Amino acid sequence: MSAPYITGFSETPAEITLESLPIQGSFPQWLVGTLIRNGPGTFHAGSQSYRHWFDGLAMLHKFSFARGKVSYANKYLETKSYQSARETGKITYSEFATDPCRSLFARGMAFFFPKITDSAKVNVARIADHYMALAETPIQVEFDIDTLKTVGVFNYEERIVGQMTTVHPQFDFSTGDVYNVVTRYHALSHYNIYRIHPSGSTQRIGSVPVMNPAYLHSFGMSHKYIILAEFPLVVNPIHLLLWLKPYIENFRWEPARGTPFTVVNRHTGEIAGRFECDSFFAFHHVNAFEKGGELVIDLVGYDDASIIQSYYLNRLSDEHNELPAGTLRRYRLPLNQKRGRVRSEVLSDAFMELPRFDYERLNMDSSYRYVYASSINPDQRSGFYNQVVKIDVTNGRQQTWHQAGCYPGEPVFVGRPGRSAEDDGVILSVILDSIKGNSFLLALDAHTFTEIGRAEVPHPILFGYHGEFFPPHPTMHSEGS
Ligand SMILES: [Fe+2]
Repeated sequence: MSAPYITGFSETPAEITLESLPIQGSFPQWLVGTLIRNGPGTFHAGSQSYRHWFDGLAMLHKFSFARGKVSYANKYLETKSYQSARETGKITYSEFATDPCRSLFARGMAFFFPKITDSAKVNVARIADHYMALAETPIQVEFDIDTLKTVGVFNYEERIVGQMTTVHPQFDFSTGDVYNVVTRYHALSHYNIYRIHPSGSTQRIGSVPVMNPAYLHSFGMSHKYIILAEFPLVVNPIHLLLWLKPYIENFRWEPARGTPFTVVNRHTGEIAGRFECDSFFAFHHVNAFEKGGELVIDLVGYDDASIIQSYYLNRLSDEHNELPAGTLRRYRLPLNQKRGRVRSEVLSDAFMELPRFDYERLNMDSSYRYVYASSINPDQRSGFYNQVVKIDVTNGRQQTWHQAGCYPGEPVFVGRPGRSAEDDGVILSVILDSIKGNSFLLALDAHTFTEIGRAEVPHPILFGYHGEFFPPHPTMHSEGS
């Protein structure tokens, strides 16, 4: 039996542009700008199907806001893997958990990192004055935010050394610099830490050697440090050289390694410390800051990496499937030592993923208080994410939004200009309404966590991952740190 939300893992019916979506309730007059969502537009290439939620061909969705109105458009990212899938009707590039069918001869001829997808479907960001679609490879695909047309792969002046990167670059709004971690797989591998200057020039600021690299989806950043939580989901680089299995299936869960935290001074590139911790797994760091002699790191953690298996589409299509519980956790590292053990606590036992907060104002700031996330209602534990949650990290208090048959995507906070309260703004989340068979953009009052408006899209939007709200004149706005 198919799960009620299965249309979220199928194929988007069309590319459309709509000047004005029908609205119930209202969207604030002050909300002016564009929300770009990224994610799979289809899980099929011809008659072939991708295997995992993190596979598929990238599609951008654009919601623009002005004078209380909401417009919408969606468009595939026109990359080589997209064009090849369209022309051949086959999967021809390797994805996170799907490889093209290859003959034994072709397998034998494979070399280090064969045709990896350039369908950058995981995140979006504005970097060096360009709008980029981001993937787990260091390829960044530029797009036009007005038309959603694909501009092409963006080439930085200096070469980025490495094959895989996190899709969550960190921004230092005081300087305009962007940081990311790129893993270079080799006999002795390295986590290379890069800084991208607002001009677009790149600089490798540090490098951490590692024999068996961990799967890193994000990393932490404080005012002084880059934090790598090295989850024990690790790969022997020789297995990537042979490439006998899809990318992620080469990684093994080795909990005896624990989850060491490596801390790098992001100004000097020096390794400042390495701290031991029991094994756990995470996709998403939330915030990190230095306070009272400690380095504090918040993230959505799991007891193990089984969440990756749970995201295979054959598992997700079973409505009785229970996703492992990710919870908001806090880790504390002693800054007066170079080694030691990490202290940890659970800030909230709400089941969550895709966490967000007021990043633009409060990244690296110990005063931050609210985290927003997609969540699973404990009374409807099986299936997919079915509510939106807001957590107060100071006391664990939670507020939720839930509607029967509705499946929310990542909630993006947009602050009201001139706000003083942290939660003075709206939460924007794309919701699949499995009863009506389409999606809508939900606007919640971020303070009360009640609905203020919804804009209906005529078709279902597939479950995506990440998005970003861009004000109309990003270089002139005054919302920075
Ligand atoms: Fe992510």
